[in-house]
Amino acid sequence: MTRAANSDSTSKTFHVVARTETDTAGLGAALAQHAKRGDIIALEGPLGSGKTVFARGFIQALCGDSTVVPSPTFTLVQIYDAPEFPLWHCDLYRLEDEEDVLEIGLEEAFADAVTLIEWADRLGRWLPHRRLSVAFAGEDRDESRRIVLDGDSDWRERLEGLTANAAT
Ligand SMILES: Nc1ncnc2c1ncn2[C@@H]1O[C@H](COP(=O)(O)OP(=O)(O)O)[C@@H](O)[C@H]1O
Ligand SMILES: [Mg+2]
Repeated sequence: MTRAANSDSTSKTFHVVARTETDTAGLGAALAQHAKRGDIIALEGPLGSGKTVFARGFIQALCGDSTVVPSPTFTLVQIYDAPEFPLWHCDLYRLEDEEDVLEIGLEEAFADAVTLIEWADRLGRWLPHRRLSVAFAGEDRDESRRIVLDGDSDWRERLEGLTANAAT
């Protein structure tokens, strides 16, 4: 797995190339070590790009490797009991009305839980600005995925730690 940080005066994003599914899950697991209550992580990218693989790595790092992590495509949300906070894994692909997020209690989760959200753009105006965006793109020739992480200053400090650790 290769990692790099690009910076200019206004933004700083972190780029990772995950060559295998294990790399993608490993990035999720590494990020999980830096998670804290109230974090919102938007997983972006087309179907099959690795969003659920990343979420599975993240969840299993906190809840145990044997934790079964199904794709919440039909249930919209699966809630896990991580040691320090509730952990929400959402897949909003089938969200019909953005107001339905109130019904599943997502607003409260944004404050009290750590929330991983696939298809977060379905939230429209309900998607908070304070979030980490993790964007997945497939490579044409092989199974590797380009992953771009982009967050506010609080996230950037944590991502720098992640990149530094990876370099050692
Ligand atoms: N580098 C990689 N990272 C993540 N998944 C990969 C990778 N290479 C191949 N795959 C495969 O791509 C698929 C990703 O599926 P999934 O995570 O469910 O996608 P999404 O949730 O984005 O729709 C899995 O079948 C996985 O085995
Ligand atoms: Mg998925």
